[in-house]
Amino acid sequence: MPKYIIEKNGPLKGEVVMSGSKNAVLPIMAASILTSKQCTITDIPKLRDVDVMCQLLRSVGAEVNIDYIKKEISITCDTVSELEAPYELVKQMRASNLIMGPLLSRTGKVKISMPGGCAIGARPIDLHLKGFQALGAEIELEHGYVEARAEKLIGDKIYLDFPSVGATENIMMCAVLAQGITTIENAAEEPEIVDLANFLNSIGAKIKGAGTDTIKIEGVSKSELTGTKHAIIPDRIETGTFMVAAAVTRGNLLIKNAIADHVKPIIAKLKECGVEITETDGDIRVTANKGVKATDIKTLPYPGFPTDMQAQFMTLLTSAIGTSIIIETVFENRYMHIGELNRMGSNIKIEGRSAVVPGEQMLEGAQVTATDLRAGAALVLAGLIAEGTTEISDIYHIERGYSEFVEKLSRIGAKIRKVED
Ligand code: UD1
Repeated sequence: MPKYIIEKNGPLKGEVVMSGSKNAVLPIMAASILTSKQCTITDIPKLRDVDVMCQLLRSVGAEVNIDYIKKEISITCDTVSELEAPYELVKQMRASNLIMGPLLSRTGKVKISMPGGCAIGARPIDLHLKGFQALGAEIELEHGYVEARAEKLIGDKIYLDFPSVGATENIMMCAVLAQGITTIENAAEEPEIVDLANFLNSIGAKIKGAGTDTIKIEGVSKSELTGTKHAIIPDRIETGTFMVAAAVTRGNLLIKNAIADHVKPIIAKLKECGVEITETDGDIRVTANKGVKATDIKTLPYPGFPTDMQAQFMTLLTSAIGTSIIIETVFENRYMHIGELNRMGSNIKIEGRSAVVPGEQMLEGAQVTATDLRAGAALVLAGLIAEGTTEISDIYHIERGYSEFVEKLSRIGAKIRKVED
């Protein structure tokens, strides 16, 4: 199994260009199966999750051509040949459940292996299913598969108990071909939802309100849907991770192809820590030549502090002056990285959903395991400041979500390499 080997580093310096957003490209790829016409998606990131979504789309009959050099993918789903998403694919990527909404909308039937438990919590899909039911689908759970069927989908008002990103996306895609108007209340407001709505509107859907807590979808007929060419927004979590990389190494980075508006809570927290941030059109400069101060963080749905940045900030705060408190409210079990960081010499304590992070901890290189995507990124950042050598295994988690991570980090001075064990 490949590993990352990281040596303690000085300040990271230079320029780094952000890739397209993982969490935007996956639902948009899934949404392409709503139409029989060709959809071209540009600015795509090179990721394992994108490869899995390609396999999934091919498995239901889509013709998929991917060109990572041009950062482009074209998807044509002339006819749908299979309606079943197999366990082998779904177990590799939870976001596989995003094909449920568009497939149900297009064909009236979908069967998908239930996403299993996951390192960052149970992550049920009850809100997705409640939404499909409200639109008229019948749901059956059998032998580890969930099947949804509907002779006719009819728009309705759906209130989400929690602003789930995936449920908002799935219901929005499902409602595109439903009759009448669907209203999603307490909808997720993430930028990726807006990107998906823009894509759907560009193929002929009628969606208003994406980016607010109330989204209205006016159903259209299949014949009204066309093809499109759509560019993916930059990845705000990759942006945040490189901002923290600059801060944790007390470096100076110019992060290009970044939307400052999408990383407002990250900018605010870094400024609280004493890190200098300058925003220019499409670029963010992060300068951290002074000490970093402790801060408290509570993860929340957008526009709150993103749960996907919690682990990386924890690494930063182990080096801060003072003690910080982190409260994780989005996922119930997203502290898997703490055990690994403590093996590297930190002394973080968990109290229910809170973590107490003492600062000024001298981290030491160790053999550690990436337990999930963002936990893995936090360990890479820890490796950059730890004395000696850090060896990270299970890096496939990291490669699910960071496009050319080793290359990008190396270009700004990090001593990181990937080795085959
Ligand atoms: C998406 C992101 C993920 C991010 C998360 C929260 C993608 C591909 N992934 O995941 O990177 O960490 O948003 O910002 O976009 N929940 C339920 N029932 C449901 C659905 C969700 O109880 O039917 C709960 C989950 O267990 C979790 C919380 O709601 O505790 C948030 O989940 P959700 O917003 O749905 O996250 P994902 O869409 O899975």
